[in-house]
Amino acid sequence: MVKIGVAVLAAGKGTRLKLDIPKALCPLLGKTLIDFVLDELDAFDQNSNTSLTTGIVVGHLKEIVQKHLKSRDVQFAVQKEQLGTADALKSYFDGTKNAWDCDYTIICCADTPCLTQDIFSQMYSKIDSDSELMGVCASFITEDPTGYGRIIREGKGFKIVEEKDADKSQKKVNEVNSGLYIFRTSHIKEHLFDIDNTNNSGEYYLTDLVSPDFNVEALTFENASAFQGVNNLIQLENAGRDIQQKIIEKHQLNGVRFINSSTCYIEPEVTIAKGTVVYPGVVIEGKTTIGENCVLEANCVIKNSQIGNAVKVLAGCYFEEIKTGNELSIGPMARLRPGTVLEDKVKVGNFVEIKKAELKKGSKVSHLSYVGDAEIGEETNIGCGFITCNYDGANKHKTTIGKNSFIGSDCQTIAPVNIGDNAYIGSGSTINKDVPSDAFAIARERQVTKEGMAKKFLKK
Ligand code: UD1
Ligand code: CA
Repeated sequence: MVKIGVAVLAAGKGTRLKLDIPKALCPLLGKTLIDFVLDELDAFDQNSNTSLTTGIVVGHLKEIVQKHLKSRDVQFAVQKEQLGTADALKSYFDGTKNAWDCDYTIICCADTPCLTQDIFSQMYSKIDSDSELMGVCASFITEDPTGYGRIIREGKGFKIVEEKDADKSQKKVNEVNSGLYIFRTSHIKEHLFDIDNTNNSGEYYLTDLVSPDFNVEALTFENASAFQGVNNLIQLENAGRDIQQKIIEKHQLNGVRFINSSTCYIEPEVTIAKGTVVYPGVVIEGKTTIGENCVLEANCVIKNSQIGNAVKVLAGCYFEEIKTGNELSIGPMARLRPGTVLEDKVKVGNFVEIKKAELKKGSKVSHLSYVGDAEIGEETNIGCGFITCNYDGANKHKTTIGKNSFIGSDCQTIAPVNIGDNAYIGSGSTINKDVPSDAFAIARERQVTKEGMAKKFLKK
């Protein structure tokens, strides 16, 4: 196994983002900036014959970064003062166990979420295939090189000149340093401590590990957008859009048909099976799976849910942590809250709210109802305007309704209460006592009709 140390530089404040959180934790597509880099590094590690030791250089608001990453197999190295990228690398070696023992060291930044495992793997292959090579620096060509270190090729090698130190002609060079490198760790050991800060920024530059005298190569990548950094909220949106585009294309190649994907928001962990159609404005978040041949109509929001096959989700639905079987129809405008479980062929209609309730196969709640803390049996039909009164002001209670029952419109069940199988509840009933199987129950005032009395109340 080849041992690779990874220094992820994340000590920066990210002032230009104008957020109250460290830059590394800036939210993007349901993750944070640094998660993207770490996930791609993990993927690279899994798909190559390498063993990664990752050290994250933290500084500004380090506790929050550490807390966010606590479940990951990474170490944290603290940089006390931000004296420059070479100083950050020193902090990495000081604070990461076994860092000096690694064959190679990858250096990358926490704010480049579009980096891919493929780029790490190309950098690694390059250095690993040439025993003389001391390092590889990823570069790219850009129309506007402002702000980047310029790759100045000289003789066999090259040097990197920062914007602040570049002369007029150097500033015109449009091949730039991406900030991603892989070095032999021995090369870093030999040169890191010679780096000084005699430059126009007074910073210790990591880029001084590169010089025309060293056998380091600049590997020019075609796809500049993979290296885009995030320093402000405009760049954050741009990076997000690029990642989103890749996610959408992956689904499209898997047979998911989007009507207008640019209006949709689909997080990275979402899976959608073939034959499903996604209308404009659909938002799917978290660990959500959508089955085959579903239709997700306009403006549905689905979070951390499992949707089966052939499920029709009509416009404007909002789901959180729900689970469905196959061949259902839901909505339009249904709100399904955590703990909703809908079996096959259930129908949930418009303006229905369901929470922590199980609707068995073929049952129907078609209009304007609230079903919470309940179990509804197979093939039971619930009329319009039904309410499970589940909360007594202090505690929640359960309503159970058996199979093949019929609940008339405008009924309430005052929980805890059980209604059996094949029961029939007359419209307008408030049910607060159990109803056994096969029974008819009605609980409303008898009607009083007085002939000719209407004119007393009618104004004209
Ligand atoms: C750096 C490169 C530049 C390259 C650019 C790509 C140097 C000297 N220059 O410039 O050639 O084109 O990246 O984006 O390296 N950081 C720390 N501690 C510090 C300083 C920085 O952790 O003391 C971290 C930052 O949080 C950031 C990364 O290092 O994640 C890069 O630092 P930044 O100041 O943005 O470098 P640039 O000036 O952009
Ligand atoms: Ca590996």
